[in-house]
Amino acid sequence: MMIRLNQKYISTGFRLLVCLSMAAPLLSIFTEVRAQSERYDDRPIKRERILINENWKFYKYSSAEQADSLIYDVRPEVEEDVDGKPADARPTEAIELIATRTVLKPWILPTGNNFIEDSVQWHVRPEGHPGSDFPFVERDFDDSSWKSVNLPHDWAINGPFYEGWNTEIGGGMGRLPIQGVAWYRKELDIPETDAGKSIFLEMEGAMSYAMVWLNGKLVGGWPYGYASWQLDLTPYVIPGTVNQLAIRLDNPPSSSRWYPGGGIYRNVWLTKTAPVHVAQWGAFVQTHHVSKSSATVELQVTVDNRSAANGHVSVATEIYLLDANGRKAGSPVAQINPASDSVAAYASASFNRAVSISNPKLWGPPPNQVPDRYVAVIQVSFNGRVVDTYETVFGIRDLHFDPDKGLLVNGERILMKGVNQHHDLGALGAAFNRRAAERQLELLREMGCNAIRMAHNPPAPGLLELTDSMGFLVIDEIFDNWELKKTPLDFHLIFPDWHEQDLRALVRRDRNHPSVILWSFGNEVGEQYTDEKGAELARRLQTIVKAEDATRPTTVSMNYAKPHMPLPAVVDIISLNYQGEGIRNGPAYSGLKGINTPPLFPAFRERFPDKMILSSENAAAVSSRGEYLFPVFDGNSAPVKDGQGGDPDTQQVSAYELYSVEFGAAPDKVFATMDAHPYVAGGFVWSGWDYLGEPTPYYLSRSSYFGIIDLAGFKKDRFYLYQAYWRPDMPMAHILPHWNWQERVGQVTPVHVFTSGDEVELFLNGVSLGRKKRGKQEYRLRWDDIKYAPGELKAVAFKDGKRWAEDIVKTTGAASQLMLQADRPVFLADGEDLVFVTVSIADKDRLTVPRAKNLLRFSIDGPGEIVATDNGDPTSLVSFSSLEREAFNGLCLVIVRARRGQEGAIKLTAESAGLDSATILLKSIREE
Ligand code: GAL
Repeated sequence: MMIRLNQKYISTGFRLLVCLSMAAPLLSIFTEVRAQSERYDDRPIKRERILINENWKFYKYSSAEQADSLIYDVRPEVEEDVDGKPADARPTEAIELIATRTVLKPWILPTGNNFIEDSVQWHVRPEGHPGSDFPFVERDFDDSSWKSVNLPHDWAINGPFYEGWNTEIGGGMGRLPIQGVAWYRKELDIPETDAGKSIFLEMEGAMSYAMVWLNGKLVGGWPYGYASWQLDLTPYVIPGTVNQLAIRLDNPPSSSRWYPGGGIYRNVWLTKTAPVHVAQWGAFVQTHHVSKSSATVELQVTVDNRSAANGHVSVATEIYLLDANGRKAGSPVAQINPASDSVAAYASASFNRAVSISNPKLWGPPPNQVPDRYVAVIQVSFNGRVVDTYETVFGIRDLHFDPDKGLLVNGERILMKGVNQHHDLGALGAAFNRRAAERQLELLREMGCNAIRMAHNPPAPGLLELTDSMGFLVIDEIFDNWELKKTPLDFHLIFPDWHEQDLRALVRRDRNHPSVILWSFGNEVGEQYTDEKGAELARRLQTIVKAEDATRPTTVSMNYAKPHMPLPAVVDIISLNYQGEGIRNGPAYSGLKGINTPPLFPAFRERFPDKMILSSENAAAVSSRGEYLFPVFDGNSAPVKDGQGGDPDTQQVSAYELYSVEFGAAPDKVFATMDAHPYVAGGFVWSGWDYLGEPTPYYLSRSSYFGIIDLAGFKKDRFYLYQAYWRPDMPMAHILPHWNWQERVGQVTPVHVFTSGDEVELFLNGVSLGRKKRGKQEYRLRWDDIKYAPGELKAVAFKDGKRWAEDIVKTTGAASQLMLQADRPVFLADGEDLVFVTVSIADKDRLTVPRAKNLLRFSIDGPGEIVATDNGDPTSLVSFSSLEREAFNGLCLVIVRARRGQEGAIKLTAESAGLDSATILLKSIREE
């Protein structure tokens, strides 16, 4: 086969060298590093971490056939089945391809050596510099005709969408052109004064199969698109000149069950340090014996000596409390006495020390607790001179995973009110944006959500900073598949070579985040079906996780494995997808084909009395915001199908919130099961927000119907059903549907009310339609036989007999005007911050017209730009960059960004034929 790095290619002498060195990646470039390091002259060097997101050049081949031949590896070819959906992968004749392509995998694998525990397995870089004669990597290549882009960048998000069946990328992956090969280039101006420093490129995420050249030389890369990784550029840097970086990405089609995005979609940093420095993610903070009066903070710091000199390394640490803005508050609360040791040239060493903090401010989830954080400021000295200062943020909290009581955080029982979230940010695609992520979390919090499962891949580091500071509990998850594939070109292709590196990298990266409470190393993997073989693999993965962090439990989400099977016995926490509530269970689901189980919480509890159980995925309920279909199902949960919650003509799903996919359940049914099994630690809804791809049940669409919140960030009715359940102390009531049914006068039009109260009286045009009390395991009040008459619906909710909340819905007049509302009137002109403006189509009394779908046009004046528009309609195939778009059921969204450094007034205008236009003034200010 292809050049596969094998022990037989490594000479005994070389292997010995591999074993002796602590700094794995160093080996392949050994002589070059030495040459660099000899220039190191003991000058004090301050660690610099520079965000290099601006001024990149981008080029994408128009088709796979046109792409260059610098491939990571030969991929199997995907056969199409009759419907044009990828059926399976067929191994291609490797020999035939190798003749025409250059397989670079052997040069890429050494990048991960630091994450392979057994040094005998380390990959040795072969001789030579493949690709160095390829124009795109050369310093003098003229890239002026390439597109100028800033990162984070998702090359696919602006489409165009593929339409119809038999397309290259179908509904499952979001109908956007994620596939193909593309290049990014950037000039790095490295001053002469950087000579002798260690220089690293830190990539937070590139989708996918990244390979990096600097000044024409292949440095390394990392295939998994969700991983964060770093490269040591030091041997390739030429100080005192402009250095040319070139990155090749290759995103396979049929590689995901959802929209992965394409490109360098997260931050990129250039880090410069002295040759003696804290290693990558080299500070691990553990907290022990946590109480209100004291806590022990244990710090393990790994220092790399990449200089040619043996020397004396000393590590000292100060700990500060952070304020709510993440700034150091006052003087240090603790100091850790220096730990020191001699460290040989090109070796690494670990330094362990602990300190006790009295009266620590604990990290915990609101509303009863505060997510307080600390920062450890670590100072490294080499032969008595300070050479590095490294900071890591952490939290002090006590977690207890109790099989009977569920999760206890600092002694308080916290029911996990969780949602699953994919990584995309709707109209912004996979490109990470802090404000967009914060907005997602803010809306989830408003609903009462306190926990997020990162489905099913490592999140952007910035998202974990938000969950830390906002106090969300996080299940950090890494793989959707192991050796067994779910799609022909997914992660299974690289699993054998990369699972250890990916897994260790995730845990090392994220283990100081207080919000991360649990490691999940698999979602619904095929190995659930392979009994002991699958369990054996699970054990191996679990051992890797535990070696990197023994403080948190592990889990794998299971939609098939049963209590008697070997897989659940491996993990610490039982995470059930759908099985807990029962799959295809209940009257409306009986008779459906496929796996069928009763609620399995009790069976798992009986088999594993010592393990905490949680519902890692539940519901998979579906709906389109503001769409209501008749007749309405009279039970509490039914599988969606054409004519039952689903409309094949419009491809929309009813928002009565009673419908789910076949293996799922509507929220009311999930709530009833959860309430019947109070030992279950909580649940994670599939899904919090809608996401790109997986548009079950209508695969001609672009985005999912699963979200409680639609893709644009507008609340579906389901939002209030969850809010009523999760925030019982907050007075609220919510009526559905809207009351604009001109064509239904006299016809039965059910009215449902979601409330945190226990009783509701409903009025139509002032006449009471009766007062109803919620029964046990009932989560909505319903009037299913109301005949429609225009006018006003009013719900008055009561709790314990007292008036509690009310809601009113009125029949509106015709659409006459547009209204604009910004989520924040003032925002930062940092080129990153965003304002989300909601456009509503209103009648003359300013009531949103609930079925309005008027075509809107947007324009902007001043130092800002419209980044994207959306309306939350899963069927819309209008590009997210379009300045014209139809409203969807009365609403539309415009996302605005200010130009970097340009403060001022930005005027956004919305127009629509026949309606009064609207303008809003936004103010962008400079960073403080
Ligand atoms: C689950 C799966 C999720 C998503 C969901 C809804 O089985 O884990 O990734 O596919 O179903 O279809």
